[in-house]
Amino acid sequence: MDKEILRVGIIAELDAINLYEQMANMTENEKIKKILLDIAKEEKTHVGEISCPN
Ligand SMILES: [Fe+2]
Repeated sequence: MDKEILRVGIIAELDAINLYEQMANMTENEKIKKILLDIAKEEKTHVGEISCPN
């Protein structure tokens, strides 16, 4: 059960990274682009956290 929860969590974080990076590529507003890429970076740390929960 916990393994499945972590698996779904990892997928959710990877989806979030893709979403933020896609949106960053869609905008021409550099300020918004930077915010979105910063958030994508945070999501990458979440993948690390949820992949190594100990
Ligand atoms: Fe996240």
